[in-house]
Amino acid sequence: MPETNGPFEELERRTQEALLGGGQARIDRQHEKGKLTARERIDILLDEGSFEELGMFVQHTSQDFGLDKQRPYGDGVITGFGTIEGRLVYVFSQDFTVFGGSLGQAHAEKIVKIMKLALDNGAPIIGLNDSGGARIQEGVVSLGGYADIFLQNTLASGVVPQISAVMGPCAGGAVYSPAITDFIFMVQKTSYMFVTGPHVVKTVTQEEVTSEELGGATTHSSKSGVAHFSAANDVECLLNIRTLMGYLPQNCEELPPRAPAQTLSEVQTKELDTIVPDNPNKPYDMHDVIDHIIDPGSFFEVHKDYAENIIVGFARLEGETIGIVANQPAVLAGVLDINSSRKGARFVRFCDAFNIPLVVFEDVPGFLPGTEQEWRGIIREGAKLLYAFCEATVPKVTVITRKAYGGAYDVMNSKHIRGDLNYAWPNSEIAVMGSKGAVEIIYRKQIAAAEDPQKAEESFTESYREKFANPYIAAARGYVDGVIFPHQTREKLVNGLKMLKNKVATNPKKKHGTIPL
Ligand code: HXC
Repeated sequence: MPETNGPFEELERRTQEALLGGGQARIDRQHEKGKLTARERIDILLDEGSFEELGMFVQHTSQDFGLDKQRPYGDGVITGFGTIEGRLVYVFSQDFTVFGGSLGQAHAEKIVKIMKLALDNGAPIIGLNDSGGARIQEGVVSLGGYADIFLQNTLASGVVPQISAVMGPCAGGAVYSPAITDFIFMVQKTSYMFVTGPHVVKTVTQEEVTSEELGGATTHSSKSGVAHFSAANDVECLLNIRTLMGYLPQNCEELPPRAPAQTLSEVQTKELDTIVPDNPNKPYDMHDVIDHIIDPGSFFEVHKDYAENIIVGFARLEGETIGIVANQPAVLAGVLDINSSRKGARFVRFCDAFNIPLVVFEDVPGFLPGTEQEWRGIIREGAKLLYAFCEATVPKVTVITRKAYGGAYDVMNSKHIRGDLNYAWPNSEIAVMGSKGAVEIIYRKQIAAAEDPQKAEESFTESYREKFANPYIAAARGYVDGVIFPHQTREKLVNGLKMLKNKVATNPKKKHGTIPL
C-alpha cells in the first residue's frame, strides 16, 4: 500500500476502528467474563481465512439520547459468509462491546440482509447471539427490527438449516428469533434466555431466582428443552456447531454430505445379540444398541439431557447421515410422555424437511398414564409425534428391539404409517399391552373364580405371552418385513437405506397441514 495514498490510509484507519468494536476496555471486560468477542467466535466457527465480511462500515442514523455522537462501525453485529469444512454458511455475530450488542434498525437490517442471502443462495444461517436486546434509545424501531428478523426466520424455516448460539444475554422478545430456528446452542454460566428477567419475575410472582436458574444453559437444556445443546465454554459451543453442520445438507433440495464409510468389527456386531436382557422388565441402555450399529463414534445426540426417555440424534451408516429416534428403556422404561413426544416430533420433522432418512429403534411400553399427563394434554402432544411420523416422506426404517405395545406401536413409525422397512428382533413383543395387564383385563372373572387365582393368572399370562407377545403374528401379516438377529441389524439398515435412496413419496396438495400444536 503506497504510504502517501490518502484514500487507502482512510480505509485502513476505518477498518482498524471497526475491528476494535466497542474498544479495548470493553473487549477486556468480555474476556474477563469468560466470553470471546464476536470476531473471535467467527474465527473459531469458520474455516481459517474463509470469512468474508459484509457491512463493516454500516452505521445507525439515530439522533436521540446522544446516539448522534456515537456511531460505531458495524453497529454491533458482524455479518458475512464463509465456510465450514469447505461448505458455504452465512453468519451473524452480535458484538456485546458495542451498545451491549443491542439491536437497533441498522443492526437488524444487517441481519436480515444476510438471512435473505442465505435463503436466496440455499445455505445455512448461523446466528451468534450476545445482546442486551432491543436498543433502548431507538425505541419502537428496534422492535420493528426484531419482527423483520422473525419473519425471515419463519420464511427460511424448512428451506435452509438455521442454527442459533446464545452466547450471552438473550432476553425479552429477542428470544423468539432463536426459538424459531432449528437448533439452539447455549454456553454454561455465560448465556441465558428468558422472556422476563429475575427482577420482573420477583415483582410479578414474588419468586426469587437467579438468571442462571431461570434461563441458563442447564435449565434450558434439561428442564424446558428450549436449548438443544449446552457447552462448557464458547470454544466448545462453536466446535459443536461445526460438528452438527457436517450432518446437514445445505438446503431442503439437497442431500446431506457423505463422510468416509467406516466399518464395525465383527466382535462389536456380535455383541449386539447380548444387550437386550431376557427379562422383559429389565432395563438396558439404548445407546449401547445404537453404538453397536452405526459408524463408530458417529452419534451426535440432540437434546441429550432433556426427556431422556427418548433418544434423538444424527449418526452415520457407511458414511451416510441418518436421524435416529429411539425409545430409552433405561429411563422411565422408555415410555412416551409429553416431553418425549414433542422432542421426537420436532426431530422427525427436521429430518423430513432436510432429506435425512429416519431410523427408529423401538422398545416402548406405551404412553404414560396419569392425571398429570392427561391434564397437560398427552393426547395432543402424543399426536404430534404420530403426525410427524405420518407426514414424513423420507426413507423410514424401524427396528423393534423388544416391546411395541399399544398406540405407541402405531406411533413409532409402524408399517401402517408408511414405515418403509420394519424389522423386529426375535424377542420382540408386539401386542396391545403387556401380558400381565392384558390377562388381568380379559381373564378377570376366570382368575377370580379359580381355585388358585395366582396359579390361574400365571397360566393365562404364559399362554397370552406365547400367543401374542412375539413378533411372528405381526410378521405373518407383513406388519414387520422380517424378524432378524440383532447382529444382522447394521447390514439390514445399510442395504435397506441403499434400496430406499431414490424413494419418492408425496403428501396430498395443501397449503400446510394443521399439526396439533
Ligand atoms: C442499549 C444497552 C442495552 C440496550 C445494554 N446496553 N443493553 N444499550 N440498549 N438494550 C449497553 C449498556 O448501556 C452498556 O453500555 C453496555 O451495553 C453493556 O451493558 P452493561 O449493563 O454494562 O453489561 P452487563 O452488566 O453485562 O449487563 C448486561 C445486561 C444489561 C444484563 C444485558 O445491560 C441489561 O439488563 N440491559 C437491558 C436489557 C433489556 O432490558 N433490554 C430490553 C429487553 S426487551 P456502555 O456504554 O456502558 O458499555 C427486548 C424486546 C425485544 O429486547 C422485543 C422483540 C419483539
